[in-house]
Amino acid sequence: MFSKIDHLGIAVADLDAALALYEVGFALHVHHREILEDQGVEAVALEIGQTTIELLRPTREDSPVARFLADKGPGVHHIAYAVDDIVGTLAELKGQGVRLVDETPRIGLGGTKIAFIHPKSTFGVLSELVERA
Ligand code: CO
Repeated sequence: MFSKIDHLGIAVADLDAALALYEVGFALHVHHREILEDQGVEAVALEIGQTTIELLRPTREDSPVARFLADKGPGVHHIAYAVDDIVGTLAELKGQGVRLVDETPRIGLGGTKIAFIHPKSTFGVLSELVERA
């Protein structure tokens, strides 16, 4: 069902400070940076081997990432799994009784198709499915 960990999402309040560590200090290459208005985040993707670290900064107070920061502070926000067929995977998970945040895929970073699984069904870890073209 899942072929690899596509990325880990990390919520940050100060993107410049986070990049000073992850890009400069850890010498990771930024391969994508984008504001996703519908999700209320600015996201920066940094390559690390076969996977990616995704830094997320809220762009508005009422976004899910802003609420996460207010509740828990900066930290690991979600884990994302790569899938070949996101629609089929969502249907399969729903059939297993897994609670979905997104019943249908939406557009994520870099034009990917994404959908979130509710942390109530994943032992407290917000989980994302990613289908890359
Ligand atoms: Co993500």
